[in-house]
Amino acid sequence: MGTLFKNGTVITASEMIKADVLVEGETISLLGKDIAPDGHEVVDCTDKYLMPGGIDVHTHLELPFGGTVSNDDFNTGHKAAAFGGTTSHIDFVIQPVGKSLEDGLKIWREKSKQAQIDYGYHMAITDLRPEVMEEIPGLVDQGITSLKLFMAYKNVFQVDDTTLFKAMQIAEENGMIVMVHAENGDVEATLTPELLAAGNTAPQYHASSRPPEIEGEATNRAVVMSGLTGCPLYVVHMTCESSIDALRRGRAAGYPVMGESCTQYFFLTVDDHLAAPGFEGAKYVCSPPIRTTHDHQVLWQALKDSTLQAVSTDHCNFWYDGGKGPWQEWLDERGGLSWVEYEQQDPSYRRPGKELGVGNFAKIPNGMPGLEERMMVMWEHGVNAGRISPTRFVELLCTNPAKIFGMYPRKGTISVGSDADIVVWDPELEYTLSVDNTHMLTDYIVYEGWKVKGKPVKVYQRGKKLVDGDEWFGKNGEGCYIPRQAHAPVI
Ligand code: URP
Ligand code: ZN
Ligand code: ZN
Repeated sequence: MGTLFKNGTVITASEMIKADVLVEGETISLLGKDIAPDGHEVVDCTDKYLMPGGIDVHTHLELPFGGTVSNDDFNTGHKAAAFGGTTSHIDFVIQPVGKSLEDGLKIWREKSKQAQIDYGYHMAITDLRPEVMEEIPGLVDQGITSLKLFMAYKNVFQVDDTTLFKAMQIAEENGMIVMVHAENGDVEATLTPELLAAGNTAPQYHASSRPPEIEGEATNRAVVMSGLTGCPLYVVHMTCESSIDALRRGRAAGYPVMGESCTQYFFLTVDDHLAAPGFEGAKYVCSPPIRTTHDHQVLWQALKDSTLQAVSTDHCNFWYDGGKGPWQEWLDERGGLSWVEYEQQDPSYRRPGKELGVGNFAKIPNGMPGLEERMMVMWEHGVNAGRISPTRFVELLCTNPAKIFGMYPRKGTISVGSDADIVVWDPELEYTLSVDNTHMLTDYIVYEGWKVKGKPVKVYQRGKKLVDGDEWFGKNGEGCYIPRQAHAPVI
């Protein structure tokens, strides 16, 4: 017998319709009016919306970065995602410097064994040697159809223009898409020591070291290379007018270019958050930096006029107050324990976090939590505020991510034959976001005390219930790897 979602309103990217949804096995088998219960388990969805499970195509779970490792892993991060209505994500595998892409994949496959929601991988290339180029077609066979190149983080992940251009040529030949972190890392690497030498060490100077112009310049460079190679380009975490302008020009010229922004860039500012008193601003250090209220308006407009195609999170969270317990000693004799296991030994133990950058903004690990709140915050300030329609909300947070990254129509919509990833959304439910009720492994959230109206009340993945109110029904290992198709559409 199946599960019958009765009396709800289904929202897809194109319409809102009153319909029942029948799920048999892992997929949706029927959509229609007044489907007979026929012994199915009935979920009453009166006054509720039924949406496809959210898809976050930009996450960094358990990422070694900035002298530590990001907190949430494929266990804690997945649970938090599902409580927020996100049932699939794509994480960035990082090629370990000097090693092969397969070496990176081995690490991520190991982390993924405890998966609770569905996931895919992007491949971040740090070093494109000839033998690495030869590995790329094999990625497509494994369902990895997107390459990521960092134009920033000099001496860590940054690649040069030759590498970026070559990667685009190879990607185009293989039906892949290239994603870029677009900031001019050479300019940042020049400005940072100058700022520090002048005594500007507080978190807010992170933004001074990465002005919007270097994001606009790098975006333009990548857009031009996409036009020259014909390789589809997806610019991640866009924050400001200068980069949006570059993307808009590329799209007007007919280049195959797309972009996303992330939740935080629509709300947080340098003045109110990064420049908060003391070391508080470290909570909001991410790259590119949060900007100004003017940039927020530019981003909302870009969502409306389809310059931007998606909203993700770039979830990459670090303790604000970390570095507790004998972690250095532990690191030296690692013994195969994960950081989560380290922290479980004693509740006061924590891996290093933002405090690494006290007295030096350049040492603050870059990134913030957000995987759980994306759908609630964008619903409140997008749909409830009248900026975007419910269908556009679904398009930006579920359908477009699935289309652009080769998972549609298995994921990203409610239609016959699609995976039964279903969020039962209560548009009337009021909720206050707080670190006290988050499921993310964090000691702060960036939306503390924010009130939202509209929240997932039940979340299903491939027909199986993960969330019901405050209760969790997921299990480690039940999240599936989703192989993705090549030659996904440019939208
Ligand atoms: O600050 C950020 N964005 N941290 C995660 C790594 C990246 O650049 O996406
Ligand atoms: Zn980035
Ligand atoms: Zn990122």
